Amino acid sequence: MRPIAFNLTGPGYQAHRDEIDGAIRGVLDASWFILGAQGEAFEREFAAYLGVPHAIGCNSGYDALVLALRALGIGAGDEVLTVAHTAVATAVAISATGATPVFCDIDPHTYVMDPADAARRVTGRTRAIVPVHLYGQSAPMGAIMDLAKAHRLKVVEDCAQSHGAKWEGRMTGTIGDAAAFSFYPTKNLGAFGDGGAVVTSDPEVARTAAMVRNYGWEPGRRYVSEVRGINSRLDEIQAAILSVRLRHLDAANAARGRLAAMYDSALAGIDGLQVPHRDPSSTHVFHLYVVRHPRRDQIVADLAALRIGTHVHYPMPVHRQPAYLDHGYAEGSLPITEQAAREIMSLPMYPELPEADVAAVVDAIGRSVTAAR
Ligand SMILES: Cc1ncc(COP(=O)(O)O)c(C=O)c1O
Repeated sequence: MRPIAFNLTGPGYQAHRDEIDGAIRGVLDASWFILGAQGEAFEREFAAYLGVPHAIGCNSGYDALVLALRALGIGAGDEVLTVAHTAVATAVAISATGATPVFCDIDPHTYVMDPADAARRVTGRTRAIVPVHLYGQSAPMGAIMDLAKAHRLKVVEDCAQSHGAKWEGRMTGTIGDAAAFSFYPTKNLGAFGDGGAVVTSDPEVARTAAMVRNYGWEPGRRYVSEVRGINSRLDEIQAAILSVRLRHLDAANAARGRLAAMYDSALAGIDGLQVPHRDPSSTHVFHLYVVRHPRRDQIVADLAALRIGTHVHYPMPVHRQPAYLDHGYAEGSLPITEQAAREIMSLPMYPELPEADVAAVVDAIGRSVTAAR
């Protein structure tokens, strides 16, 4: 059997090769590489796609979180509610501002923040919430915004995995005070290098984020730092590529949705296997297709033996990673998160994944589960 890749970025390039090559050549011909017309065009297009007034390009999703939090005034001494079931970048970005991440447990079906658990963790120092729209599905933004309102907390949506996903008809990234997007190559909207963006409806937040990303300089006023900034700019080549890829984002998300539906029906009936739960309030854009089984490790091993690529997102929750042990979360302190980490696995998923690969993956899982009985 030929290998089945977990994710490939090559087919997405080949599908739009002429457009992407043309966009790159345009930047090379113009020979303007940092903070120029392409970056501004992409920022306008991405903001329009989401329906927000401001998008500020930057170097990564991690940086976008840092910029958004800093622009909202979050820093040393503050506590920020988030989840441990996420890419570590979410927590590290909070730490980088000087604030302390406070880890909340998750919903056992959707794997996103449990707002009731978050509410129990609010203290006098809590200043913000960073919900993560994990795997392509929105966190429960109604309850999260209610919690934020009740305690005057800022909300920064982590949209690294949710480009184009909606919550109750609203685009993720447009509901909180600001949002952070990643354009890492494998994301639903991926660059061919690092990239990210902050989006917001608040002109002051946009202005501060735009300054912080470029040494603290006010746009158009070089060499004078209004705030202590960093260097986190989206380069012109990546911006030009992203403008092309944005035009194809909805079609790519629809392809992911079709593949997810194929997996759903083909996997139904495999003993003990849970397919992704779909929250009716959310449109899922299937950045990842994550299933669950108590004998996960055996299935992963069996698929690896057949050269089928899988991953676990994420095998070690952030609160149990060495860098965060000093935050005082004992083993068992986030039971739903910890059990999920033991049982979940992500199956191959990218818009051009051949349907025959879906069938082969499902067949291999079925045989693994049957053999272990
Ligand atoms: C949920 C989440 N947040 C933040 C990030 C950070 O994005 P980047 O890799 O662009 O820094 C990622 C990507 O790895 C992510 O999946």
